[in-house]
Amino acid sequence: MKILFLGDVMGRAGRAAVTERLPRLRADWGLDFVVVNGENATSGHGLSAAHAKTLLEAGADCITLGDHAFDQKEMLSYIEKEPRIIRPLNFSKAAPGKGYRLFNAPGGRKILVTQVLGQVFMKRPFDDPFSAVEQVLKAHPLGGLPQAILVDVHCEATSEKMAMGHWCDGKASVVVGTHTHVPTGDAQILPGGTAFQSDAGMCGDYNSVIGMEKAEPLRRFITGMAKDRFTPARGEATLSGLYVETDDRTGKATRVEMIREGGRLQTSTP
Ligand SMILES: [Fe+2]
Ligand SMILES: [Fe+2]
Repeated sequence: MKILFLGDVMGRAGRAAVTERLPRLRADWGLDFVVVNGENATSGHGLSAAHAKTLLEAGADCITLGDHAFDQKEMLSYIEKEPRIIRPLNFSKAAPGKGYRLFNAPGGRKILVTQVLGQVFMKRPFDDPFSAVEQVLKAHPLGGLPQAILVDVHCEATSEKMAMGHWCDGKASVVVGTHTHVPTGDAQILPGGTAFQSDAGMCGDYNSVIGMEKAEPLRRFITGMAKDRFTPARGEATLSGLYVETDDRTGKATRVEMIREGGRLQTSTP
């Protein structure tokens, strides 16, 4: 299966990069399934129903969220109506929506997508992501239905993300990190056959502080005082993510490539 994962879409610039580039990439690369992290697509804070539709129409088959899942209050009800949106498995017992789902891929194949939140350096405490993901992977072993499994591990610490990669090695096709908004250079296939990258990076303007206009974050770091709201940077965004090919028989990854296209970062394509 040919899978593309795109990291956190940041505001208007990030949405524009997805709508302008994804339809062409889908066709050119013959993609079977596309997952997009949408937790910052609406003004950097959450995802509105309208912007979810924008990402789905551009070619996302599934949207994952993150700690900002419900910043846009309408997502609390919209996620119940739109099964293609996944919230973190361990967000809260009371959270609406689903933390994982089996999706149809071309040729009668199935792909399971799930997302977990990390615990290290996160603003509020979430339940143990390791036991949460273990339950899902035990119930859906690779190498039959589903033909592929993608885990979006949404957290701050690279150590926790790498630990999650190894925890899922051989049991998921892809474990990819999100949330830090900066792509790491460690894309690889782990010994058990799981494609891994600590962070996919954001689809956003990299002339920024993790996607936000620089002035206010700089002011807060330098003076310790807030003056304005954070607003997403508006320059051309770099589409950032991970391209993975998997073996339908085993569910394991056979190829992994870092993706960066447009904007300020060096281009990287399969
Ligand atoms: Fe994010
Ligand atoms: Fe996040």
